[in-house]
Amino acid sequence: MGTTTPANSKITPKNPAFDYRKYRAFGFAPKLTDRTWPDQEITQSPIWASVDLRDGNQALIDPMTIEQKMRFFKTLVEVGFKEIEIGFPSAAQVEFDFTRKLIEEGHVPADVTLQVLVQAREHLIQRTFESLKGAKRAIVHVYNSTSRVQRDKVYGKTKEEIKQIAIDGATLVKQYAAQYPETEWVFQYSPESFSQTETDFAIEVCEAVCKVWQPQSGQGVIINLPATVEASVPNVFADQVEYFCRHLSCRKDVIVSLHTHNDRGCGLAAAELGLMAGADRIEGTLLGNGERTGNMDIMVMAMNLFSQGVDPELDFSNMSEIVQVVSECNNLPLHPRHPYVGELVFTAFSGSHQDAIKKSLDYNTQHAETADHWDVAYLPIDPAHIGRSYQDVVRINSQSGKGGVAYILQRNYGFNLPRWMQIDFSRVVQNQAEKEARELQNDEILQTFERTYLQQSDYELLDYSVNNKGGEVQFVGQVKAHGETIEIDGVGNGPLSSFIDGLAQNMGSAVHIINYAEHAISPHHLNYDESEIDTDRENKTNAAAAAYIQLTVNGKIYSGIGTCTSTVSAMLKGALSALAQAPVASGA
Ligand code: KIV
Ligand code: ZN
Repeated sequence: MGTTTPANSKITPKNPAFDYRKYRAFGFAPKLTDRTWPDQEITQSPIWASVDLRDGNQALIDPMTIEQKMRFFKTLVEVGFKEIEIGFPSAAQVEFDFTRKLIEEGHVPADVTLQVLVQAREHLIQRTFESLKGAKRAIVHVYNSTSRVQRDKVYGKTKEEIKQIAIDGATLVKQYAAQYPETEWVFQYSPESFSQTETDFAIEVCEAVCKVWQPQSGQGVIINLPATVEASVPNVFADQVEYFCRHLSCRKDVIVSLHTHNDRGCGLAAAELGLMAGADRIEGTLLGNGERTGNMDIMVMAMNLFSQGVDPELDFSNMSEIVQVVSECNNLPLHPRHPYVGELVFTAFSGSHQDAIKKSLDYNTQHAETADHWDVAYLPIDPAHIGRSYQDVVRINSQSGKGGVAYILQRNYGFNLPRWMQIDFSRVVQNQAEKEARELQNDEILQTFERTYLQQSDYELLDYSVNNKGGEVQFVGQVKAHGETIEIDGVGNGPLSSFIDGLAQNMGSAVHIINYAEHAISPHHLNYDESEIDTDRENKTNAAAAAYIQLTVNGKIYSGIGTCTSTVSAMLKGALSALAQAPVASGA
């Protein structure tokens, strides 16, 4: 196109350096008006083929060493791949040597088939077969480009000439395979850049290849359809695949495979829709390494199946180790938001998300006997299935709400805050996160919690007794208030109300309890001082208690928390903690 203005009537862009008119709409969609793929569901896993060691490796800044390839290969086998493209043995000595090493040293399990790639050229095909000598079963994958741009601009060949390259390649593969009868050979052909090829022409070429290979007579044949460049929306790719499958005369005798790249960011969607459109097999890489934007990510597609209750036939339970091997061998970092495995994908910062996760998880705990499947807001899978824990789920910054903070205190430290207490404390946390302009770690949240409610030094409960007196409860005791010991004497219908009555009298303030909650808390969650434990006190429990009190002091609301092995003492300390929040009461 050069610098000439495209001959169309589109509006001149505001910025001439960013001229959308240089592009045109995708022109290779087959005419398909009765497509059936949108009604299909994926109910079983496809045949998976990893191309990490070939397509992935070819795209690396520093290709893998033999040691790295071996480490990666073993991981692929452990994950459960049965077909693994290990390289391009005719292209480089290291590729040839790796193939020989796998075969000669017996690294290939009986149920795993090696696959290698080769161009449709005789000396390369010959060398490829030499590299596979002694393999029990192997897939020889031959390809040539069929797209219009490659025919016209790269090779300068007609459609007939391009078809002939494919026929010649297929013929040579068949001839060389016959020289190694001890191996069970499967032949694979890719009309490279299928996605940008007229679908009828791709079919014509594949028919010609199949005519040579004769899959009808029992020869194993894979026809692999690459979206070498992802050039359109995934539904168009699915149309291409359905059209292809419907029109290939030997469809039932061949395995139809897909190999999608990710140029438009939809390589994985194209593979999924293509599978619905009739394909049997998917080629891709773990974590999506590959030329340019990469290949489709098999791990994500397998986990997508898993999350829909379909057995992916690949095992990612050991995900962190798999990710480590892949990123170390590829020498590529993992994006923190990479689906399923990124550091942040099981994390919720947003308050409403945290709240929903907490509620779903609490609901599931309460209904454990009837909950037969995973159903948690914002979490498509149980992180535990891939070796992650709920530790990762809720993290706190200034966007976080009460649910997240409460979740951390409950899960890590055993404090089960009532809603009104959550509201009170989340304000404190939000202020701190805003002030520090960063995420707060769990231990920082605990420290803030303790500093705010448990370690206040304005009021200290000293000795006391509570006695029933004619239907009323009388509280008599001492409290240290701002360094001074004061006598408290009050009555009420329980220990707390009599304590508050005595305090209010002493302070000359109007103090009323408006909310109260308590729960046992396992002692290891508490950092309490053994000397505080009064063994004579009533209501003593084996577990320590946490008491949450909300009261008004002269009409203003304050909340506090007390902990102790005695529930009564916990309650009274909670009241003092609330009082300490009140400036008026603290003598300010
Ligand atoms: O992307 C591609 O087209 C390929 C082929 C060689 C299958 O990698
Ligand atoms: Zn590729």
